[in-house]
Amino acid sequence: MSLTKATLQAGMLSRFHRSVGQVSRGVVAAATCSLTATATTPGPRFSTAAPLKMNVPQPECLQKPLNVPSKLLMGPGPSNSPLRVHYAMMKPLLGHLHPEFTQIMDEVKEGLRYIFQTKAEVVCCVSGTGHAGMETTMCNLLEPGDVILIAQNGIWGERAADMARRHDADVRIIDKPGDTFTLEELDAALAQHKPAVLFMVQGESSTGVLQPLEGAGALCRKHGALLAVDCVASLGGVPFYMDGWDIDVVYTGTQKVISAPPSMAPIAFNDRAMAKVRSRKTPIRSFYSDMTWLANYWGCDGTPRKYHHTGPISAVYALREALAIVCEEGLESLWSRHKACAKKLHEGLGALGLEMYVSDPNKRTPTVSTIRVPEGVDWTRVTKYFMSNYLVEISGGLGPSAGKVWRVGLMGYNCTPENVDLVLRIMKEALADATGKSQKSKI
Ligand SMILES: Cc1ncc(COP(=O)(O)O)c(C=O)c1O
Repeated sequence: MSLTKATLQAGMLSRFHRSVGQVSRGVVAAATCSLTATATTPGPRFSTAAPLKMNVPQPECLQKPLNVPSKLLMGPGPSNSPLRVHYAMMKPLLGHLHPEFTQIMDEVKEGLRYIFQTKAEVVCCVSGTGHAGMETTMCNLLEPGDVILIAQNGIWGERAADMARRHDADVRIIDKPGDTFTLEELDAALAQHKPAVLFMVQGESSTGVLQPLEGAGALCRKHGALLAVDCVASLGGVPFYMDGWDIDVVYTGTQKVISAPPSMAPIAFNDRAMAKVRSRKTPIRSFYSDMTWLANYWGCDGTPRKYHHTGPISAVYALREALAIVCEEGLESLWSRHKACAKKLHEGLGALGLEMYVSDPNKRTPTVSTIRVPEGVDWTRVTKYFMSNYLVEISGGLGPSAGKVWRVGLMGYNCTPENVDLVLRIMKEALADATGKSQKSKI
C-alpha cells in the first residue's frame, strides 16, 4: 500500500470513528504511525506491538452521580449566583470567534465599562480568577528593574509583591495591616520611591479594610507613576470611578459582588497604561496574559480579532447575565444596599457583644466584614457550627487576620437583610455552643 493511500485511509477511518465515537484519536494516530513506519527505511520506529495493559482503571467515583449540596456562601467569596446566571451556562456552546459570541463579548465589555465607570478602549477579561487579573497587571506593567510601590494593608499586597518580584521588579512596600493610607502618606512614599507603578487594594478581604482611592490617581500623575488597583472584593459594593479617579489599571473577579461563578478576571487598561505596555523594551513574559493579545481578542484594538486562546464560552454567558442584573438594579442602588446591609450586620454583631477588627466604621469595606474572635473562643467551632447545622459558610481570617477573625461576606446576590438576620441568628447560637451555653433557636 502506498504511503499516500495509507494515510488517506487512516484519515477516513479517523472521520468515521469520530462520528460514531467508538475509538479515540490516539488509536487512529497509532494506526497512521505504523502504516507510515512500514513504508520508510529502517531506523528508530514507533512500536507496532499490542497496546500496553492499562494500569489506571476507570475511577469508581466517576461512576456515581455528581453530588453538589446547596450551601449559602456568606464567606469572602465566592458568593452564590442567581438562577438566571446558572441558566445562562446551559445555553448552547458557540465557537470562540463566532459572530454571535463576539457580540456577547461586546455586551460584556459594555457592562464592565459601566461597573468600572470608564470609557477606556481596553476593557476585557482574563480567563482565570482574580489572581489572573493581578498577574496580568504585573506582567504587562513591569519590566525588570522597574520600581513598584505597594500600599499593603493585608494579604493581597503581599501577593502582589510576590508576583512583582517574579517579574524582576524592584518592589518597595509601605505596610499598614488592617488600616488605610492617607493621601499625605502616599504622596511622601511616591516622592521617596519614584515608582513606575503604585499598586493599591480597594477592598482588602483579608483585613476588611476599605482603602479610599480618590486623589491617589492625581498624586500618581504628579509623580509620573501609573496607578493599578485591585477591586476584586469591592467592585459593585462600593463607589468606584476608574476615569473620575484617574485609575490606570483595574481588575476584579466575577465571583464576588458580580455574583457569577469564579472563572474570569474583568480588567481595564486606560490609554496611559496601554502606552506603557506598547512602549516596553522587553517582551511581556506571559503570552497568555499579554494585554495586546487580549485587547485584540476582545475587539478593543480596532483590528480584526485573532485567535489567542479559547474563551470560556459558558462563563462569558454567565458574566453577561450577571452584569445585566447589575445594570438592571443600577450601581447607586447596589452601593446603598451593601452599605445598609453591612451597617445592619455590624450593629447586630455589636448587640451580640462582638467587636469588629476594623474599629472605625468608615474604614470598613461593606463587602467583607472582619469580626474579632473573642478571647477563649475556638473560631473553628463557630465556622463548623454554621456549616454542619445550616450549610451556611462563614470563614476564618487570612494573612494578618488568620486565627483572629471571622469573615462574613455580603456580596451581590447574597447581600440581603434576610441573610444578615440569618447570619446573626446562627452566630448567636454558635457562640453559645462554643462557650458551652448552647440554646438552639428555631430558624
Ligand atoms: C482583594 C482580592 N484580591 C484578589 C483575590 C484573588 O482572587 P481569586 O481567588 O479569584 O483568584 C481575592 C480573593 O479573595 C481578593 O479578595
